[in-house]
Amino acid sequence: MLEVSDIEAGYGEMQVLWDVSLRAEKGALTVLLGSNGAGKTTTLRTISGVLTPWRGRIVYDSTEITRLPAYKRVEMGIVMVPEGRRLWPHLTVYEHLELGASTKGARNRFRENLELVYNLFPILKERRLQLAGTLSGGEQQMLAIARALMSSPHLLLMDEPSLGLAPKLVIDVFRVIERLKEEVGLTIFLTEQNVHMALRVADYGYVMEQGRIVLEGAHEELEGSERIKKAYLGV
Ligand SMILES: Nc1ncnc2c1ncn2[C@@H]1O[C@H](COP(=O)(O)OP(=O)(O)OP(=O)(O)O)[C@@H](O)[C@H]1O
Ligand SMILES: [Mg+2]
Repeated sequence: MLEVSDIEAGYGEMQVLWDVSLRAEKGALTVLLGSNGAGKTTTLRTISGVLTPWRGRIVYDSTEITRLPAYKRVEMGIVMVPEGRRLWPHLTVYEHLELGASTKGARNRFRENLELVYNLFPILKERRLQLAGTLSGGEQQMLAIARALMSSPHLLLMDEPSLGLAPKLVIDVFRVIERLKEEVGLTIFLTEQNVHMALRVADYGYVMEQGRIVLEGAHEELEGSERIKKAYLGV
């Protein structure tokens, strides 16, 4: 569904990504693992269209999108849940959901999507009039995901969904991510530093170090990888 080939990208003069190639298969959950500063967010930015790569190609659903503006990619179904949630503290839960439905297609499906979101996250229905700034960390992450779902995504990009959450909430968030794949049928591409959790849910994964993909493989290969065990799991 998504194919990134030989991407190089950076900020100003500084190159961050070197020859990055990866794929996200339709209906699968693909993870990009790496520690602080590896280039995970930068990779997602080139896929969502907020950063134009210097070289390389991005193809989505057989269409080249390398230089397509971000809003057009949202219309095509590529939607991002940003790192650190990026909510508006003084807007209510419901107002976030309204703002999530930014494209014409999404506005036409507003009722349907709202029902889906309330069904996945009953707590957000209960708290629909509450200000986002007063939600707990876990509820805020649910809202960030819900807002993205309101724009009818086909490919959901998630940037470190477990960031800053207590272990119990991390488990809840990953459970939701699995439901999005299995019940809603979304294709998911997510980044994580929490290698342990991400490996449990991943169908396929990549490891990034200093802007390069250094390892890739299917679920079982990654779980058995000595390199991952040594570098990321402390075993
Ligand atoms: N807007 C920017 N301007 C200049 N340099 C940036 C910018 N954003 C990121 N960088 C640099 O690019 C490199 C990769 O950053 P990136 O945010 O992609 O890493 P990351 O893997 O997402 O890290 P983290 O896990 O901490 O979020 C870092 O060296 C960072 O300092
Ligand atoms: Mg990041």
